[in-house]
Amino acid sequence: MTKCVYPGSFDPFTLGHLDILERACALFGEVKVAVLHNSRKRCFFTLDERLAFIRSAIEARNLSNASAEAFEGLLADYIKIERADCVLRGIRGAIDYEYEAAMAALNKRLYPKCETVVLMASPEHIAVSSSMVREIGRLGGDIGSLVPEANRETIAERLLQDE
Ligand code: COA
Repeated sequence: MTKCVYPGSFDPFTLGHLDILERACALFGEVKVAVLHNSRKRCFFTLDERLAFIRSAIEARNLSNASAEAFEGLLADYIKIERADCVLRGIRGAIDYEYEAAMAALNKRLYPKCETVVLMASPEHIAVSSSMVREIGRLGGDIGSLVPEANRETIAERLLQDE
């Protein structure tokens, strides 16, 4: 069974991320969403909130071969410990590509068995990003078409509290 790890900050998990996750679930035997826990990277949402958003989206979409957990430290080490076959990343265009190509090369240098599989974002999600969700939500805009339905209200309320 092929196992992939889909890592990210997911601050918060968007419909763009969900699109990648759902498509990966159809391709791989097991998909583990690995949520970065890094005390030096400041996220707006807590680790527990970010995990809860992903888990409720997984449940709502019945993705029985997906799960989510936190990870700390080097991704290459996590891939090795998890005995995963590859890292999964989504890219939205040329800007994402440069960053992903460098990360894939470095992860392979750190752990030569570490392959990276990239899925292209679906056209309707090309403009979606976590930072845009945060900005639109903080300013009271409608984030309904940007984040999974299961998390919409909670995310919108939390972002409005920040203003
Ligand atoms: N749809 C929507 N948005 C997408 C997307 C998609 N398909 N793909 C990427 N994004 C966006 C996110 O919304 C986010 O946008 P923002 O920066 O505007 O908020 C951005 O791309 C990246 O966020 P995310 O997908 O959560 O991943 P990340 O880049 O924060 O994750 C790690 C980076 C966790 C994979 C990387 O930092 C890591 O591996 N860290 C561990 C330490 C390590 O090993 N370092 C060496 C790496 S070589």
